[in-house]
Amino acid sequence: MARSNKTVRDYIRTIPDFPHEGIMFRDVTTLFADPRGFRIAIDQLLHPYAGTDIDRIVGLEARGFILGGAIAHQLSVGFVPIRKKGKLPGKTLSQDYTLEYGEATMEIHDDAIQPGEKVLVVDDLLATGGTAEAGIKLLEKLGAEIVGCAFVIDLPDLGGRAKLEAMGVDIHALCAFEGD
Ligand code: PRP
Ligand code: MG
Repeated sequence: MARSNKTVRDYIRTIPDFPHEGIMFRDVTTLFADPRGFRIAIDQLLHPYAGTDIDRIVGLEARGFILGGAIAHQLSVGFVPIRKKGKLPGKTLSQDYTLEYGEATMEIHDDAIQPGEKVLVVDDLLATGGTAEAGIKLLEKLGAEIVGCAFVIDLPDLGGRAKLEAMGVDIHALCAFEGD
């Protein structure tokens, strides 16, 4: 069989006008569903951190769980979820963040990370950076050392990368979609 030279970006499907008219939705289900696509995405998300000491992977709900679980397994480290409000059963810390319309809240178990633990944060998409910023603030409250934030997709027009870099966080994204 011929070797594929498709990139991670090539596996992502774009659905126009979802969830609202004028939005170009970047759908990673087609990437996740393809065995080669999913494998190269996980490998490339990890690539910059080869040789880096990482104690735990932190995934942002919901697609960050799919990526983060695979990465944690690959590194043989534990996985910690940051979830939307009301989903975690134990004692939590909460952080509000701004969505396109209105506010939302992310939560983490208050005993999920020990101070000084080195964590890699994972999600599918970086847009305004509000979700990741909320996650970073929760991790900072718990005293985690954030090794970096890894995303499949960056939408640089929405400013998330600039926002997180201004917080001193190292950003790694596999591909970008601009100008729409
Ligand atoms: C999407 C995406 C990121 C976030 C990025 O999640 O999966 O988590 O938005 O946007 P931001 O950088 O502007 O915060 P969504 O909130 O749609 O929820 P889901 O992952 O649970 O579907
Ligand atoms: Mg999400």
